[in-house]
Amino acid sequence: MDVILFGPPGAGKGTQGALLAERHRLLRLSTGDLLRDAVREGTQLGREAKRYMDAGELVPDEVILGLVHEVMTNGTAASGYIFDGFPRTTAQAEALTDLMRRLHRTLDAVVVLDVDDESIVKRLAGRLWCSQCSAVYNVYTNPPAVPGKCDICGGALVQRDDDREDTVRRRLEVYRAQTAPVVAWYRNAGLPVHNVDGNRSVDAIQNDLEALIRK
Ligand code: AP5
Repeated sequence: MDVILFGPPGAGKGTQGALLAERHRLLRLSTGDLLRDAVREGTQLGREAKRYMDAGELVPDEVILGLVHEVMTNGTAASGYIFDGFPRTTAQAEALTDLMRRLHRTLDAVVVLDVDDESIVKRLAGRLWCSQCSAVYNVYTNPPAVPGKCDICGGALVQRDDDREDTVRRRLEVYRAQTAPVVAWYRNAGLPVHNVDGNRSVDAIQNDLEALIRK
């Protein structure tokens, strides 16, 4: 099963993608996590990408496509992928189609998590992120057992640099201008597109996603 989890920043793609990946033994391929790994490691790619990420802009397509190509052709074929935060432009969607064809894989569906802007700004103001293992928490809806410490690895929990309100609002503009058109691109290509109301509890959304997978 190869599925794209789509939606604006903070829609819950990472939260839902991690649950699906664990339950169905799929690989969650998050380009945001790959970029943050590169930033943490201080690589040249990470330093360059950070400028775009902190400004709420998209990292150039060729950088992203290089990262995705590396993961998908590293010799350990995943039983299935949950694409999280990728593709984000029609050029990325075209490149993914080519790569999937070469790897003899087929995309099954696109799932779009719909969440309104004000809920997103509030959610991201409360998000905490583990600087060691990338686990995600929320001070309002999913706090850690010990404040400031990751339940999984004990790492320090921090706010993401791009979760400041002005940057979140820019990321929403970029989503509407450059990323939302990718959904229409997939519809035109004949791929099933399912919209899921992401303004509900994590469990309610997960139940809908499980029902879609069973179908
Ligand atoms: P990326 O990391 O992909 O960020 P994003 O798409 O903006 O999404 P987020 O990670 O912010 O949110 P999410 O939907 O995963 O929500 P989450 O589950 O964490 O990208 C970051 C940057 O990297 C981009 O701006 C760009 O610069 C660059 N980049 C990445 N990929 C790229 C690409 N392909 N091309 C070009 N550039 C790229 O949830 C958010 C919060 O809400 C959490 O605190 C969570 O606990 C909480 N929450 C989740 N679900 C619920 C719920 N149902 N109810 C209440 N709270 C909830």
